[in-house]
Amino acid sequence: MEVPSCQSRSSYDDCKKTADWLLVRTKQRPRVAIICGSGLGALADLIDDKMVFPYQDIPGFPTSTVAGHAGQLVFGKLQDRECVCMEGRFHYYEGYSIHTVTYPVRVFFLLGVETLIVTNAAGGVNGSYNVGDIMVIKDHINLPGFCGQSPLVGHNDDRFGVRFPCMSDAYDRNLRTLAIQTAHEQNCGGFLQEGVYCMVVGPTFETIAESNILQRFGADAVGMSTVPEVVAARQCGLRVLGLSLITNKAVTDYDSNEKANHEEVLATTGLRARDLQRLVRHLVTKI
Ligand code: HPA
Repeated sequence: MEVPSCQSRSSYDDCKKTADWLLVRTKQRPRVAIICGSGLGALADLIDDKMVFPYQDIPGFPTSTVAGHAGQLVFGKLQDRECVCMEGRFHYYEGYSIHTVTYPVRVFFLLGVETLIVTNAAGGVNGSYNVGDIMVIKDHINLPGFCGQSPLVGHNDDRFGVRFPCMSDAYDRNLRTLAIQTAHEQNCGGFLQEGVYCMVVGPTFETIAESNILQRFGADAVGMSTVPEVVAARQCGLRVLGLSLITNKAVTDYDSNEKANHEEVLATTGLRARDLQRLVRHLVTKI
């Protein structure tokens, strides 16, 4: 298994080379990109007229280290809408630099993508959330960012966007409304939430004290991804929709015997993957 390079490599020229390499190999010009979270990669199976690029074949692209993660970029049509789908994402906890984690998003921008849909598995911090709920992300808390781990730290290339991008509108209001409408149409209304996602680095699940802090911070869900990609996407002007699948409940009580674990996360994504896929598939046609 490859040991990921911690070197930053997301310069404009690097990303442009990768994007240009892809553009000469596919006729597709997707306006929508989708990043599939843990266990949610089956979304790519619904894509028609597929053109698949394993990450290791794409010049400059990072490669996946997690066993069982497909690690490929899938171009094609979802309900007749051209899109590009990342099957397997890069997590900071795998040892990639925060700039490498966001490399694909900048490539999407250079491919002409305008809308980014990110999905993830997350722990429910809000006590009223149930395992299996789908949460439309309304806002995020960038905990790694509080500690200096932002993909925008370092030299700013204005071709990607401004030095100090606004994040108060990170999750597009119209897309959120559309997602909620579509969820109701697709019979997902009974397990739909809208809330705040907090990113932690992981790979440990939270202690009880940490989960209690997150609750007091105003987080509704916690996970180990998404926020760096959203920050990079917003800097270069992509519209963003984020969807979290609540795969487990954060443990906030010292008398509880529950323990978060990766098997539970994957089991829940397995149960709800179809609902999430249906939601995204119908949503894409309305964007
Ligand atoms: N914490 C952090 N990340 C997660 C969790 C969790 O409880 N569940 C799925 N991803």
